[in-house]
Amino acid sequence: MLLSRSGPLMVRVVDVWKYRGDNLVLKGVDLAAEQGQVVCLLGPSGAGKSTLLRCINALEAADRGLISVDGVTIGSKKRGDAYYRMTEREVSRQRADIGMVFQNFNLFPHMSVMDNITDAPIRVRGEKPSVARERARDLLDRVGLSEKADSFPRHLSGGQQQRIAIARALAMNPKLMLFDEPTSALDPHLVGEVLEVIKSLAATGMTMIIVTHEVQFAREIGDVAAVMSDGVIAECGPAKEVLNRPTDPRARAFLARALRDPD
Ligand SMILES: Nc1ncnc2c1ncn2[C@@H]1O[C@H](COP(=O)(O)OP(=O)(O)OP(=O)(O)O)[C@@H](O)[C@H]1O
Ligand SMILES: [Mg+2]
Repeated sequence: MLLSRSGPLMVRVVDVWKYRGDNLVLKGVDLAAEQGQVVCLLGPSGAGKSTLLRCINALEAADRGLISVDGVTIGSKKRGDAYYRMTEREVSRQRADIGMVFQNFNLFPHMSVMDNITDAPIRVRGEKPSVARERARDLLDRVGLSEKADSFPRHLSGGQQQRIAIARALAMNPKLMLFDEPTSALDPHLVGEVLEVIKSLAATGMTMIIVTHEVQFAREIGDVAAVMSDGVIAECGPAKEVLNRPTDPRARAFLARALRDPD
């Protein structure tokens, strides 16, 4: 189900299958994101959304199928006609180009905000600390938290922690940003500030795949919406069409429920 193909593809997921334990969790997933596109991924709990993001980010290896980011196959390399799994070192090098933001922020609790943001650029990319810090200050400014550089995560609200987590991901200059329900753990009054940061990021042309339960947000920000159900993409297309007039019965049922009981 490749999309319009008007721009170069940043993400290509082709016939991906994945077991977790004895569960067959992904059952032939196809998905694509053009450069600069925002793809919103929705669907009921257990559909496989997080697993798909984790495969794109090479946190999990797909059992079958192919994933590429910016034209490069993720997690495996081809020799002759066969694909071989990459070493953990090669995989982590690929992962450095993909930013991931989790539901629970996952900041390093024992590090200041500044150290959280500069740790990977310095350690993984070998950036000069002064350069990394300068860039961190710009990023803090972008997420509206310039004054928090020396704070520790425990002194920040959930919304602030999530904005720092976004700044931390951006510090690696990612080609692609993946968000896994970035606002689900937040008190309702803190959701807006995080969604605003994500929106401003979309406006910069960042390619993003966002797992979200916020249907209204997905309508506003998504170029493409994909609804997953039981390990497959039930429906995928222009966000406004899919979210306003879904045709697949599984997508219709999910969206009817999501709009009736927003969480
Ligand atoms: N570590 C694991 N071992 C075995 N099964 C797992 C594991 N993690 C997840 N699963 C199963 O994989 C399926 C898909 O899980 P996944 O977390 O990808 O769903 P999801 O769509 O992200 O759901 P949610 O909206 O609740 O986050 C579920 O049936 C889940 O029980
Ligand atoms: Mg999930």
